[in-house]
Amino acid sequence: MNTRSSVEKRYADAAIQPEAALCCPVDYDPQYLKVIPEEVIEKDYGCGDPSKWVKPGETVLDLGSGTGKICFIASQVVGPGGRVIGVDMTDDMLEVANRNAPIVAEKIGYGNVEFRKGRIQDLALDLNLLGAALEQHPVAGANDFLKLDEIAESLRVKQPLVASNSIDVVVSNCVLNLVESEQKPKLFQEIFRVLKSGGRAVISDIVSDEEVPEAMRADAHLWSGCISGALTEENFLKAFEAAGFYGVELVKFESEPWQTVAGIEFRSVTVQAYKGKQGACFERNQAVVYQGPFKSVLDDDGHRYDRGVRVAVCDKTFQLLQSGPYAGHFASIEPLEIVPSETARPFNCKKGARRHPKETKGQDYDATTEARTCIEGSDCC
Ligand SMILES: C[S@@+](CC[C@H](N)C(=O)[O-])C[C@H]1O[C@@H](n2cnc3c(N)ncnc32)[C@H](O)[C@@H]1O
Repeated sequence: MNTRSSVEKRYADAAIQPEAALCCPVDYDPQYLKVIPEEVIEKDYGCGDPSKWVKPGETVLDLGSGTGKICFIASQVVGPGGRVIGVDMTDDMLEVANRNAPIVAEKIGYGNVEFRKGRIQDLALDLNLLGAALEQHPVAGANDFLKLDEIAESLRVKQPLVASNSIDVVVSNCVLNLVESEQKPKLFQEIFRVLKSGGRAVISDIVSDEEVPEAMRADAHLWSGCISGALTEENFLKAFEAAGFYGVELVKFESEPWQTVAGIEFRSVTVQAYKGKQGACFERNQAVVYQGPFKSVLDDDGHRYDRGVRVAVCDKTFQLLQSGPYAGHFASIEPLEIVPSETARPFNCKKGARRHPKETKGQDYDATTEARTCIEGSDCC
């Protein structure tokens, strides 16, 4: 059996009969578990809890949603103003999730979760729609296959399973490792595609501390058991970078391995990564000061910020550094005379260039001011 069929069979079986070997201890918030039926909880094959980073009102996409536990937790976190979409390729998993969705909805008083059938490395292709097309155009030869391929391409464009730029936060719990090695780059690109600009991915998965040797990768049972498809902890983060994410951060790193196989440690981590650094750069005479504690830091575009130094940045970087992963690390300095965005020129990015205070205040600035008045209770005196 190859790795792909092994994953398909193992999770179809695990949807019917719980498999203890696929469970990894996770401390889910008990308040959200109260309304989730036991059948869903006992078929938990996660290794982390990405729902801890979800916020009220968000649209959430859960990759490899299994029997739906993370979706049902996220459903309560986002509240009636948000929505949750779970994607899985295994019919038996989807059956359990779909059967339990109305039960959870009744208990919490609203329904905002839906499950869709697809492969997470091809989030544009709706496998239910493809199945319906196959019934009308059965494949009996190469020409039929080519026709079906054409239909699949048209479905991806006209009726995508998950539309581009439509999701606030993509979560996943112990699934990315299961995708075949050659499809992993496509998987990260798909996560990036479906996120809105400003959105983020929060992914819990198993990583290895050393490269997994070829012989172990060929072991289909180890692969479907969330072991041998794991990326190294370093390559896992690099995969987000390669897809265009910024602010990539290990928000959880289990010190104890989940399993050790042939001396290689496999542990659970949770990574948060942001979409939104792409776009044109405009000069609005802004500067930032990195506040520390490190002597110097580098962002995902290669800009270097030395502690305490006024660095010239474009408007896009200026905005990014005030929010998301960077919030609280940079002081922002606007020029005395604001440059309207309509008249802003393209920014000449000389990475790490300083912004002289005279540029901020204006070359002719020579004001002398009184000390700021002390107000009782303020901390300015
Ligand atoms: C280890 S289980 C995790 C299930 C769930 N996230 C949880 O926390 O219990 C992996 C799930 O991902 C699904 N899966 C594996 N590979 C997939 C792929 N390429 N596309 C879609 N679903 C996939 C399996 O059907 C299974 O439900």
